[in-house]
Amino acid sequence: METTKITIAIDGFSSCGKSTLAKDLAKELKYIFIDSGAMYRAVTLYALNTNCIQEGIVNQTALIESLNDIELHFELNPTTNSPEILLNGLNVAHEIRTPRVAKVVAKVAEIKEVRKKLVLEQRKIGANGGLVMDGRDIGSVVFPNAELKLFITASIQVRTNRRHAELLSKGIEISKQDVQLNLEERDLIDSERKESPLKQTDDAIVIDNTELTKKEQLNKVLNLVKHSFKVK
Ligand code: CDP
Repeated sequence: METTKITIAIDGFSSCGKSTLAKDLAKELKYIFIDSGAMYRAVTLYALNTNCIQEGIVNQTALIESLNDIELHFELNPTTNSPEILLNGLNVAHEIRTPRVAKVVAKVAEIKEVRKKLVLEQRKIGANGGLVMDGRDIGSVVFPNAELKLFITASIQVRTNRRHAELLSKGIEISKQDVQLNLEERDLIDSERKESPLKQTDDAIVIDNTELTKKEQLNKVLNLVKHSFKVK
């Protein structure tokens, strides 16, 4: 029997488990998983390393001029079976998760030209469906015709605790307060920016995972997928 390969768009605030859900879903459905946030983080890392960002200030003109020098692609890590991002051929999966990048990524993501480049690449990757992509503008801008759109939320305390634990497990020392401040600051910039702000589309299904385990959340969404689209 032929199975329909749909596009699943997952949006929501910072650190609410979008990528975890997207990764688990893609594994179950044998779809491609793309963390669009990793692309914005990789561009930010490039900007930091080339001094297009200094003391938290983004030199937009310089960054826009060097956008053509930035080549991004994903490669599957055979151990974790997850795609990892390469910036100009170098695996930066770990480096893009550091507070150094988190502090300024929302400012880079506000830039129209940056978004234009990344949205084009995201659409190319998803051209044939069979994709789960998470981010802030996936259901609203990148794939407005996605068959399934999810908007994920969770309380700020739970989001802070999860991100703090994740960073500690990677050996990155940071206080819970600093983690929370960064999440709140990014949420504000992401929601209020002019270009493709984070917003819930009318056709998105909202899932608050504050009190859901990873498995409960996955099962809930798998049911949605199976019932709506007969995808097995
Ligand atoms: O993992 P977390 O939820 O903390 O963030 P992320 O998904 O890695 O995204 C990092 C930043 O990239 C966000 O705070 C946004 O500023 C930006 N972003 C965006 O503007 N549009 C997307 N589709 C994905 C991320």
